[in-house]
Amino acid sequence: MRRTVLLASFLAPLVAAAADEVALDPATGMKMAPDWEIVRNHCVICHSPQTFLQQRGTESTWTDVVAWMQRHGGLWKLDPAVEKTIIGYLAANYGPGDHFRRAPIPPSLMPPNPYATEARLEAEAKQREGKIPAAPPAPGK
Ligand code: HEC
Repeated sequence: MRRTVLLASFLAPLVAAAADEVALDPATGMKMAPDWEIVRNHCVICHSPQTFLQQRGTESTWTDVVAWMQRHGGLWKLDPAVEKTIIGYLAANYGPGDHFRRAPIPPSLMPPNPYATEARLEAEAKQREGKIPAAPPAPGK
């Protein structure tokens, strides 16, 4: 009896923590937090979602990523409200957390990468196959 009570008091916080976690979309691995579909609709066309799910950043870092995407990745110009929603989702769900000793370096301050990244190869292959639309996806989920 005593053992059961002890075990229960150990497990309760773990169960509570698991319940707080946002469910993941089985197809993309994205956190299904509010507005996740808008981000999916814009950000998985050219490359795998892992490209950005493994990144962490503040709102300012994600703003920079989107601008860099537009300059170097061929991302279309976004409607300001859509852009704000996308950046808000990314910063809220893929923020830096507590495990950074300093803020991540904004992509615009990084030197150009001379190597082909997986994201670039994937996007270029899709481009050749004509799978990348010239315009943003239609609004809505
Ligand atoms: C029109 C195509 C296109 C769209 C749409 C697009 N990207 Fe990209 N993305 C690219 C390309 C091309 C690269 C590779 C750039 C390079 O390495 O030079 C890339 C790379 C990235 C990287 C860096 C990955 C790495 O391996 O370093 C991140 C992060 C990223 N994209 C995030 C996003 C986000 C967030 C969105 C949605 C707002 C998005 N992308 C939409 C084309 C796109």
